[in-house]
Amino acid sequence: MAEKDQTKLKAQIAELKAQKNAVIFAHYYTRPEIQEIADFIGDSLALAQEATRVDADILVMCGVHFMGETMKILCPDKKVLIPDMNAGCSLADSCKAEDLAAFKAQHPDHMVVSYVNTSADVKALTDVVVTSSNAKKIVDQLPADAKIIFGPDHNLGSYINSVTGRNMLLWNGACHVHSRFSLEALLKLKAENPGVEVLAHPECKAPILAQSDVIGSTKALLEHTVKSSAKRFIIATESGILFEMQRACPDKEFIPVPPEVTEGIGCSCNECEYMRMNTLEKVYACLRDEKPEMHVEKETAEKAVSSIQRMLQMS
Ligand code: 13P
Ligand code: SF4
Repeated sequence: MAEKDQTKLKAQIAELKAQKNAVIFAHYYTRPEIQEIADFIGDSLALAQEATRVDADILVMCGVHFMGETMKILCPDKKVLIPDMNAGCSLADSCKAEDLAAFKAQHPDHMVVSYVNTSADVKALTDVVVTSSNAKKIVDQLPADAKIIFGPDHNLGSYINSVTGRNMLLWNGACHVHSRFSLEALLKLKAENPGVEVLAHPECKAPILAQSDVIGSTKALLEHTVKSSAKRFIIATESGILFEMQRACPDKEFIPVPPEVTEGIGCSCNECEYMRMNTLEKVYACLRDEKPEMHVEKETAEKAVSSIQRMLQMS
């Protein structure tokens, strides 16, 4: 889109936002122009926390479906809009509620800890929700002898097992973006940039995490780049975060780790296509028409809210 059209659209969005007492939330993985118009940018934990604090009639969640659902569950009296209902999440899709229910039935003595990247139906079957920001902190607070099912991200679950000394039963799900970073490319980048720290999201596979100096949620990685005196960093997470890193640290350099390219089906980018479905045009249209609106079935929301609130209390 031409720059002048973007400027016009941004002004129209600002006007609608003021008229309708709306607040725009965006995840760090969204397009730069979406992060520019957002009132609040955050990782999944911060987005959920902030949603409960804002005083607005309409919340627009520029992220993916489960983030809008979480927001609606926490703020049932507010109108929650999401610019594109098709913005899903491969990780959330890797755990269907009926499969989790069957797994729970096979392990009746286990409690369920679920990553926030799950559907409301899965959260309704969960004892406590976690995000990558607070997973260690929350698992550490559970009774030492608790038997735990952790899902759906296998990479995050293995990492949390390794840092907590737990032996949680892991669901075999993964994020298609974080599991495709190339170890070979990372080793090459490390060799070309000796001494440069590697920052990785815990959804990455174990061999990538083993080569990383800092492992954390998008917010934790961002905060590290701001606090550190280093000037260059190698980044293994979705590339949308680079926009905020560069904005926060204009004098620093961020080197993204590329994904593996499998012949024929390989993708040459480390972008989450679901996050990129949020565009200025869609934000404008959803504010103007007040749709698509997020709805969560009452019974599901009532069950899911306890596992999310437990997370907020334990964070
Ligand atoms: P954060 O919890 O770091 O925001 O991550 C969410 C996500 O979808 C990562 O792929
Ligand atoms: Fe889901 Fe992966 Fe996209 Fe995050 S990056 S929203 S886990 S598909």
